[in-house]
Amino acid sequence: MKGVILVGGEGTRLRPLTSRLPKPMVPIVNRPFLERMIGWMKGFGITDIVLAMGYLPDRIRERLGDGAELGVTLTYSVEDSPLGTAGAVKLAVGHLDDTCFVFNGDILTDLDLGAMLAAHREATAKVSIALTPVHDPTQFGVVEFDAERRITKFTEKPRREEVRSNLINAGTYIIEPEVLDRVPAGQYWMFERSLFPDLLAAGERLLAYPSDCYWIDIGTPDKYRQVHRDLLAGRVHAHLGRPRGEDLWVGDGCDIDESASFLGPVVLGDRVQIGPGAVIAGPTVIGNGSSVGANANVTDSILWENVRIGDGAIVSECIVANDSRVDCTAFNAVIGANVVVESGNRLDHGLRIWPDRVIQRDTLSFG
Ligand code: GTP
Repeated sequence: MKGVILVGGEGTRLRPLTSRLPKPMVPIVNRPFLERMIGWMKGFGITDIVLAMGYLPDRIRERLGDGAELGVTLTYSVEDSPLGTAGAVKLAVGHLDDTCFVFNGDILTDLDLGAMLAAHREATAKVSIALTPVHDPTQFGVVEFDAERRITKFTEKPRREEVRSNLINAGTYIIEPEVLDRVPAGQYWMFERSLFPDLLAAGERLLAYPSDCYWIDIGTPDKYRQVHRDLLAGRVHAHLGRPRGEDLWVGDGCDIDESASFLGPVVLGDRVQIGPGAVIAGPTVIGNGSSVGANANVTDSILWENVRIGDGAIVSECIVANDSRVDCTAFNAVIGANVVVESGNRLDHGLRIWPDRVIQRDTLSFG
């Protein structure tokens, strides 16, 4: 079966992590998010996969190639300028000859796609939309439906007094080929704001598929950290690596000083070095080739590849992208790629540091 994944967005809310890397390629426990997503789709027999791209497409293509290593067939469609979710699918597949899945490329979920497809077929719907409950729906697209799960209304970002349901569009759709005929070729067109309301107005059957499966949009630093907490706590199944004792997973070729200590769930990639007296408290993930210096302390953080945490540094609730070095105290900071923060600084308050910056000794002091 065919599946289209929408991966064209710039991921602005996740900057600076997405300044050089498309959001679907950010690592989730040391593996690009998109690889995990494709593995999940493959589990339901979706192996003919089209990636609808726009932003930094080469970063995706270089890594995933033709999909053979993942056991799927990947093809790529690149927009010159963003065409919106429906416009992007139209460009990517042209004319469909069978039912097709469409996915937002920034949602981690364990939704049962087989059950959703069975419900879609039983209802002979033109479109089925997965729904998920959220605490505060005012920032999302709310979907209302009747007792037969026939969708009756879409409301984008409702005001609080307008809220009639806490079920929102979860970014997974099943579409029948003919619905794409309503999407003008080469024009910016959205599923949520244009195509679905048009189909509703035309009296077509749109099936609501609510579910209480695991669901999270990885698109902000807080959500990105939450995904890691959930995976390391086992709230959703994922392969974390090779377990060593309880709550510790260690990759190949690591060099861990025997006086270092680990508390709570911690995942180390390959070739990670942990110095004497270092304390790593979970949930924490340390990427391939990274190192933590003597007596340093890393808590509730995600370090990407080739990150250096200096001797005595304290890093808590941080995300640090590839090739960066932190020699200071950092609390709740998001540090882009190839950054150096020298000792004597204090990073705080959700500070975001753009790639390639060097912050010299004793220049930043927040908190
Ligand atoms: P923000 O800039 O942080 O809002 O992130 P984003 O650019 O990814 O936008 P958003 O989260 O709203 O997009 C949801 C999904 O749709 C993501 O997987 C995007 O990659 C994808 N997407 C949004 N617009 C387009 C588009 O015009 N073309 C393509 N191909 N994908 C899109």
